[in-house]
Order: sequence, then C-alpha cells, then structure tokens
Amino acid sequence: MSLSNKNILLGVTGGIAAYKSAEIVRGLVKKGAGVRVVMTESAMRFITPLTLAVLSKNQVNTGLWEGDQERIDHVSISSGSDLFLIAPATANTLGKIAHGLADNLLTNLFLTFKGPVVVCPSMNSNMYLHPAVQANLEILRQRGVHIIAPAVGELACGVEGVGRMPAPEAIVMEVETLLMKRAKLSGKKILITAGPTREFFDAVRFISNPSSGKMGYAIAEAAARRGADVVLVSGPSLLPKPAGVRLVNVVTAEEMNEAVMSNLKDVDAAIMAAAVSDYRPVGRYPEKLKKGEEKISNDLERTPDILENAGKRKNGFLLVGFAAETEGLLENAREKMLRKNCDMMVGNLVNSSRSGFESDENEVMVISKKKDTVDKLPLMSKRQAAERIMDKIIEEMGLD
Ligand SMILES: Cc1cc2nc3c(=O)[nH]c(=O)nc-3n(C[C@H](O)[C@H](O)[C@H](O)COP(=O)(O)O)c2cc1C
Repeated sequence: MSLSNKNILLGVTGGIAAYKSAEIVRGLVKKGAGVRVVMTESAMRFITPLTLAVLSKNQVNTGLWEGDQERIDHVSISSGSDLFLIAPATANTLGKIAHGLADNLLTNLFLTFKGPVVVCPSMNSNMYLHPAVQANLEILRQRGVHIIAPAVGELACGVEGVGRMPAPEAIVMEVETLLMKRAKLSGKKILITAGPTREFFDAVRFISNPSSGKMGYAIAEAAARRGADVVLVSGPSLLPKPAGVRLVNVVTAEEMNEAVMSNLKDVDAAIMAAAVSDYRPVGRYPEKLKKGEEKISNDLERTPDILENAGKRKNGFLLVGFAAETEGLLENAREKMLRKNCDMMVGNLVNSSRSGFESDENEVMVISKKKDTVDKLPLMSKRQAAERIMDKIIEEMGLD
C-alpha cells in the first residue's frame, strides 16, 4: 500500500465540506496510512468526532484543555506525523494560521508541526475571492504550505463559483503524490541561480534586464518541497525567500560567478536560471555622473561565463542551463547545451507578452542531451512549469 508507514494528521474545520472529511479518512486508511484527527469546535457542528474516530480507528482530539497534562497534547499530537492535512480549511482557520494565532488545538498544532502542511480552502466564492483570504493564502504559500485549490461548481449555498472542496479521492491522491515526491531529493544538494545581475557604470546606474527571478525561485521551491538541500544564488529580486532554501544574495555577474563556484562542491545538480548580463561597462565612475556632454561613451567587456565555468568544473553533477532566446529557440538552445557542457537545457522565448521575463507564465521546452529528446510544454504558470522541470531533472538523475 502506497501510504503504509505514513502517519497523517488531519485537521477538520467548520466548513460545510466537513462531511467529506470522513471520506478523506477512509481513503487515507485504505492506502495504509495511520490517521489522527483533530477538529475545531465549529467542525463538530458539521460532523461528529465519533464518525471520524471509528473511521480512523484512533482517538479524535478536539480541545486544547482535554487530555492528560503530562503528555502536553497541544504539542505531542503532531509529533510522528509525516504530513498535516487541513481539509476543509475555513477562511477563519486560514487567517489564524497565516498570522500565527493559536487559540485552539488545531492552530497550536500548526505552529508546532515542522513537516509539510497541505490545506484545502473551501468556502463560498465571495469569501474565497476576498482580498483578505487571498492575502492569507499567499502568506501561507510563501511559507511553503501546499494549497490544494478549490474547484469551481455548485456550492452548498446554492450559487455557482469557485470554493468547492475537491473530491476526497483527489485530495488523497495529491497527498500521496506529495509524500512520494518529497522523498525523491532528500539528501541531494541542488544549486540554483535566479534573477538578473546589475553591472554599474556609475554609482547609481547599471545595465540589467527585466528578469524578476520568478522562474528560478519557483524551481527552488519545487526542489525544496521534494526534500533537497537548496542553495539559491539570486541577483536583485523583489521576491520573498522561498521556504526551506538557503539564499545567497548577489548583485553583479562577477559576484554570482564567485558564489556559484564556491557552492559547486558536492552538488548533485546545478540549475542556472539567472539572466546574467553578458557584458559590463569597462569604466565605473565612483560618483553619480553629472549631466554634461551631449554624447559620452563607455566600452563594454565580457562578464564571467558562469554556465561555461560550471561546465568546466563538472565532476558528476547534472548541469541544467536556461536559454532565453528571441528567435531560433531550439537550435540555439541545443547548440548552447553542447557548447557549455550542459546535460539539459530549458529554452524559452522571451519576446512574447504572456511568457518570459516578468510574466507569471512561461512556455518552455526541456532538452535532454542523454536522451536526445525535446519536450515542449504548453503555456502554464511558472510554478507549474517549475514542477514539470523538476520532474524531468529527477528523471534525468535516475531518481524517479
Ligand atoms: C452553515 C454554515 C456553513 C459554513 N460553511 C463554511 C465554509 O464552507 N467555509 C468557511 O470558511 N466557513 C464556513 N462557515 C463559517 C465558519 O463555520 C466560521 O467562520 C467558524 O468560525 C469557523 O471556525 P473554525 O475555523 O475554527 O472551524 C459556515 C458557517 C455556517 C453556520
């Protein structure tokens, strides 16, 4: 059974979909998981603890003040669990866990639990789409909480819209996939670069590009979720540090090169998603240049070629390059892969309005040297693309 030896802590909150939690328990138990349920006061208005206790074959905990004082239940219940699933997750509970409030057993356990957390928001669509709820979900997502998006359909309140909790079987399947994926990269060290670099020509002005870092950060998140020890070397980016990742901030191509070279030792894979400036101004004025001459000039010189340098130092790790092109994508990406001694290349066109530098979406192709294959992925969110790219990298590393 796929979930034998796995223990799942299931938190049930007071949404109308709480009745579906019985099916979630059954689904998890059927796959061999041990299930422990905690419920909020409101959840007990929708489904009885007895039902979930019978199905989970375990005691159900509902209150902070119940139980044996010596065991300190508000902390100990979650220890030994491999994953904390909150389904359904009400707007109220999402708000509390996003802000660290801990006024019931479930929210206390959220703060004590160190493993992966999955939440299934489920509510009326106006509630779900409210900026406050969306902001709370964003906070949780940035902290590494896995969110199973609600489905669109007829809601219990009679209206059509987004907010329905997905079918219990789909939730069980997602939990299963997540636990299986998590193990894939444990013990592996992965170095990722992201964002632009800045090459200054005076004290305040620089040559750069519009890279936001979104693609590289999404890959770092995807690798960390799979259990990898991730070092993210990032040029200037406004994005928050992804959960569970070691972040090294750099500004110039020279600094990025140094950070990459000093972290390459004992990596299992290096994924170079940064948009590095190929050239930098030769002269750098120490102060801000004053407006004066009609024309001024400054020569440009090559910056270190980080991908090429990593390719020269390859000692068994997998090297993945990125090729952002405005034309001839496949030919250019393939040629770059061979020239720079890469094992894989992710190519994307950067002159489309929906895909590329600053966009939230990307349309990429993944080229493998060993397999001699090109996988063209459709336009999708950078987060989804990151998951697919990581799947391919894991396959290439022989870890699937
Ligand atoms: C009939 C009824 C149905 C409700 N359904 C939902 C729901 O589906 N999602 C939700 O976020 N809140 C729902 N609520 C509101 C929550 O029960 C309420 O916010 C409660 O404080 C949640 O507590 P908890 O998060 O501690 O479980 C519903 C309330 C009622 C009375």
